[in-house]
Amino acid sequence: MTAEQILAQLAAYKKDDLPTHGGTTTAYVFDPGDPAIDDIALRAYELLAHVNGIDPTQFPSVARIENDLVATVAGQLGGDAATVGTVTSGGTESCLLAVLGARELWRAKKLTGTPRIVVPNTVHAAFYKAAHLFGLDAVTVPVDPLTLRADPAAMAAAIGPLTALVVASAPSYAYGVLDPVREIAAAALNAGVPCHVDACIGGWVLPFLEGVAPFDLSVPGVTSLSVDLHKYGYVPKGVSVLLHKNSELRLRHWFTIAGWAGYPLVNPTLASSRPVGPMASAWAVQKYLGADGFRALARSAHAAAAQLAAGIADIDGLRVVGGVDSTLVAFADDGGPDDPDVRVVVDELALRGWHLQIQPSVRHVPTTAHATITASAAGKMPELLAVLRDSVAAARLVGRAAADPDLIAAAAQIDVAELTEEQVGFLLEMAGVGGSAGLPERMAPVHALVEALPGPLAERLLAGVLSRQLTPEA
Ligand SMILES: Cc1ncc(COP(=O)(O)O)c(C=O)c1O
Repeated sequence: MTAEQILAQLAAYKKDDLPTHGGTTTAYVFDPGDPAIDDIALRAYELLAHVNGIDPTQFPSVARIENDLVATVAGQLGGDAATVGTVTSGGTESCLLAVLGARELWRAKKLTGTPRIVVPNTVHAAFYKAAHLFGLDAVTVPVDPLTLRADPAAMAAAIGPLTALVVASAPSYAYGVLDPVREIAAAALNAGVPCHVDACIGGWVLPFLEGVAPFDLSVPGVTSLSVDLHKYGYVPKGVSVLLHKNSELRLRHWFTIAGWAGYPLVNPTLASSRPVGPMASAWAVQKYLGADGFRALARSAHAAAAQLAAGIADIDGLRVVGGVDSTLVAFADDGGPDDPDVRVVVDELALRGWHLQIQPSVRHVPTTAHATITASAAGKMPELLAVLRDSVAAARLVGRAAADPDLIAAAAQIDVAELTEEQVGFLLEMAGVGGSAGLPERMAPVHALVEALPGPLAERLLAGVLSRQLTPEA
């Protein structure tokens, strides 16, 4: 193929993707709304694209870029002279490494039993993944039922000798509220346990807003903090920073081996060979925007999110859930038989070009729609609210989504461990998501089904959907 043909084919592949720019995709992507920022990010990416971050002794640019980036981030997030950091591939990797390091620290105490992480039940999935991968139990502590912030007394009560790490979110992805970090960190400090602040999504917004409760490394007891620059640092995916209070703590998650057949290896991250492009992008955009540039972007995104939440509060049948401590908005429907179903509202929004995410009901919190507002959406809240009002009216006509009762009854008989790929395929056909064309245009019934099925079965079916999508057609 020629270069033109190759690029044309990629462009054709991309045409069904959600828009990455323009602010109408309110999850997954972060658009500053300024092509000059993308331009400098991509040029820096290209310049470092072939460098291998595995070995800063041979590629000194890696250490220079990484040290600059960590110093900039630590400077805004309460770091001091002892603060060190690690540039990782993203929020999940930063959270994984925080848990891994804490587990190693706990192991050094030589206690018996399975170590635990104590997390609010609004914590990001990355912590369940970490517990799963590294052999810890996750103790999930119910948040305050009204504010949806972590409950510091309940968190403190959950800490015990098996606790390897306590976690607070700044803010939680699902409901956008900042946990009371000061109180939680104090409880951790009191128990001699490390405390991680997951500021993956808020860590490059909150430092630039006014009146934010303390949440960073300057808070006594906070030992590590994660912040993703591929979110509100406005650069392409693959870059997050994990800060540690000191290098002793950081060393706990490193892997070093001199005794295998090949070269001696020191890996600060999960990957060994690692890309330098994303961190070069982040470095470049930091230099380009500076703190003042980020302050302007953070404030306009925050103001827009607040405007959206205020508008939603005025729409009959909807209500805001959680709060707008940062740039995230969640809302639910009022739940009555005549109220619009928020899952259908999100379908209607998508049909009108606005893409929000459905979050299932957990415990007493109902199903919500989630919007991550970025700077590019800042001027567009009146448009979004108008579309939302139309979508609510349309959703009332469609009615509430419900899972097929026959499917739910059949599901109760299923032993997930025994399910074959073929049976998964059959169930997906029954649920209307079995086709090779991918997911249906209207997802509300699928969301209703996912919520109604037993968790392990829902998870098996979700994996089945992706597995089909990621299998080349014969
Ligand atoms: C609070 C929080 N933590 C962790 C993550 C995981 O980040 P990533 O998707 O980059 O792995 C996210 C992602 O949205 C997040 O919002």
